Amino acid sequence: MFLKNFRNYETAEVRDFLPGLNVFTGKNAQGKTNIIEAFTFLASGKSFRTTKDVCAVREGSSEAYARASFFDGGVTKSVEMLLSAGRKKAFKISGLPVRKMSELYHALTVVVFSPEDLKIVKEAPDLRRRFLDEEICKIRPSYLDALKNYNKLLREKGAALRRPDADRALLDAYNRQMSPLIAVMVKNRESYLAKLTQSIKEVLQTMELGDGISFSYRSTLPKDGIDAALQKAMQREIAERQCLLGPQRDEVVIKVNNREAKYYASQGQIRLIMLATKISAVRIIEEATGKVPVLLLDDVFSELDEARKNWTIKNLTGMQVFITTADEGEAKRIGGAVFGVEAGRIRAL
Ligand SMILES: Nc1ncnc2c1ncn2[C@@H]1O[C@H](COP(=O)(O)OP(=O)(O)O)[C@@H](O)[C@H]1O
Ligand SMILES: [Mg+2]
Repeated sequence: MFLKNFRNYETAEVRDFLPGLNVFTGKNAQGKTNIIEAFTFLASGKSFRTTKDVCAVREGSSEAYARASFFDGGVTKSVEMLLSAGRKKAFKISGLPVRKMSELYHALTVVVFSPEDLKIVKEAPDLRRRFLDEEICKIRPSYLDALKNYNKLLREKGAALRRPDADRALLDAYNRQMSPLIAVMVKNRESYLAKLTQSIKEVLQTMELGDGISFSYRSTLPKDGIDAALQKAMQREIAERQCLLGPQRDEVVIKVNNREAKYYASQGQIRLIMLATKISAVRIIEEATGKVPVLLLDDVFSELDEARKNWTIKNLTGMQVFITTADEGEAKRIGGAVFGVEAGRIRAL
């Protein structure tokens, strides 16, 4: 990994990551999460914690650069990113410019688990939808195109609905274009959640914790009558001047022991749900693509109880993992390669 003018790193390079566990430790605000963020940029074209890309450019610099090199099927590949204040961010995969962001999903794949993700269980449904869409993109990069096309139509239809005189023919045309995209989205989302529920079941079997966790999809549109339902909703959409049905309104229902987690899950159960979900997400990508993604655990490890820590370590075999923790003793107990992070400098401990 090489960083230049990225966040608080002037330049930083690490060449000796292990294929297994790698742990970053250091006090608060030293740059641990910044490393995790750099990986998420390189893997998905965006940060996992901000939508303001320029914030990642080091103060006083005009551009940030990040690169990760890795083995893929015995071949060394690389992903590079150049972020500058005035221009579009640019990516390269093994030296070749990336034209479509979805290409990045084919190169380096990561699954990240950070404290923010605990909100997925309890807070607004858009967090659950975003998680779901993000994971589907990793196993099916073309899903991103469907998503983008749908969102574009949704914005246009929303604008049409806000105009004083509703143009029914235009709204009808939007609905007809949206319908097949909705079908694709719902199908992929349902199928991913079924896989996730199954995988979590398998993952939890080895954990000896009794909680049964399930994910299901609650759609605002009937699968076999999308067009008719959209047609029927038109009058109400015109009256309320907004889009009322569609994947942007659908819910991901998470249950723990048959109760909706949003209302019933304890803090401990939420941690367990997300931990099992992220490990399952790794397994699902592995199954779908034949490649094991990199797992990034930002500040979540030390919050687990001893039993779950031990269980987690056991479940991380066969994958490359980057863990951050402020607790240096903890870092050493985890094992693997340990790196100290201090004021934008990284050194092997
Ligand atoms: N664009 C930037 N330029 C310089 N420093 C930055 C920038 N963005 C964040 N930082 C610094 O990075 C540090 C936070 O890094 P972070 O990786 O979140 O810390 P932690 O080690 O706690 O995970 C803070 O000191 C913050 O001021
Ligand atoms: Mg941090």
